[in-house]
Amino acid sequence: MSFLSATLSRVKPSPTIAMTAKAAELKAAGRDVIGLSAGEPDFDTPQNIKDAAVAAIAAGKTKYTAPDGIPELKQAVCAKMKRDHGLDYTPAQVSVGTGGKQTLYNALMATLNEGDEVVIPAPYWVSYPDMVLLAGGTPVITETSLQTNFKLTADQLEAAITPKTKWFIFNSPSNPTGAGYSRAELKELTDVLMRHPHVWVMTDDMYEHLAYDGFEFCTPAQVEPGLYDRTLTCNGVSKAYAMTGWRIGYAAGPVELIAAMRKVQSQSTSNPCSVSQWAAVEALNGTQAFLAPNNEIFKRRRNLVVDMLSQIDGISCPTPEGAFYVYPSIAGLIGKTTPAGTVIDSDEAFATALLEEADVAVVFGAAFGLSPNFRVSYATSDEALTEACTRIQRFCASLT
Ligand SMILES: Cc1ncc(COP(=O)(O)O)c(C=O)c1O
Repeated sequence: MSFLSATLSRVKPSPTIAMTAKAAELKAAGRDVIGLSAGEPDFDTPQNIKDAAVAAIAAGKTKYTAPDGIPELKQAVCAKMKRDHGLDYTPAQVSVGTGGKQTLYNALMATLNEGDEVVIPAPYWVSYPDMVLLAGGTPVITETSLQTNFKLTADQLEAAITPKTKWFIFNSPSNPTGAGYSRAELKELTDVLMRHPHVWVMTDDMYEHLAYDGFEFCTPAQVEPGLYDRTLTCNGVSKAYAMTGWRIGYAAGPVELIAAMRKVQSQSTSNPCSVSQWAAVEALNGTQAFLAPNNEIFKRRRNLVVDMLSQIDGISCPTPEGAFYVYPSIAGLIGKTTPAGTVIDSDEAFATALLEEADVAVVFGAAFGLSPNFRVSYATSDEALTEACTRIQRFCASLT
């Protein structure tokens, strides 16, 4: 429709929405569908955080705040950056937004011009390429592979950088693969970036705290202090603190960039919810004691899913370091036919048939830019995971 903007026409509708809608439709029709497609923890927000929000309401902290966050939350972010990464930031270097999503979007809107390139490793979180397109830039997608457990190599990064590259978007542990880069693996990438001083780093550390088997999380500015002046470190409370609905994310970086992001936010949404900001202060400053037991549960579920999916002929499922996703390859199933007669010629066909014929909802790999794979979110009960994986096993065994 010509009424709509040309920019919007470059943005794809989310393929995950179609799958989610289909699953909801089947459920409404009475089918016992198990959803493994949600990108949020099934845990409740910890009580101390809820209490802080209630106290904020009672104290009347219900008015507009500074557009990019209350000083107390900015201070809490500075303390977190120092405590967890040894990085020094002042409140003027911190931006708070309505979810991690808004801070990433603000940064791209504030910096991209027509023709600017943004290097994005695939598979990627679905929003990165479309946010780049909305901001007028050009996504440069670099596919990783199962062989490197979906991690970008230094050579691949080197090859993707051109004189037009403005940003490199980095996400570890990753949505959708769960892959986490070790300090040594990340250092190989930061060494490449040190040779290209015009490239800025946007690191999305959203799954920082969700890591297993002693994985040591590192963020780029910590591994390579030489990148501090051109790194935007993005994070948020959504995943680790089970606060997806509260909508608080934050970013720390150079003062000029933070000021430009504030400008974008002040002319669009203004401040994130005041009450949620007070809850986030408690999330960052308060006890972190629930993280370890939650991670034990996630680790057990990860192992359960990897074990059960690895037993399937035609599926390869690496064990990821973190987040709450696995990203198995179905390369060995391509070309097979389902009992209902559907030929599995793509991961989309696989996911659609799995939903229609076996009542399990997953997200197909093409949505994340790397096929043939599918993403399982294991942020659900052990019982649901066991039943879902049993159905996937049975479905795959029925293919001919
Ligand atoms: C990698 C990654 N970054 C950012 C976000 C956005 O988080 P928020 O809900 O805080 O906007 C998500 C949410 O799914 C994510 O997976």
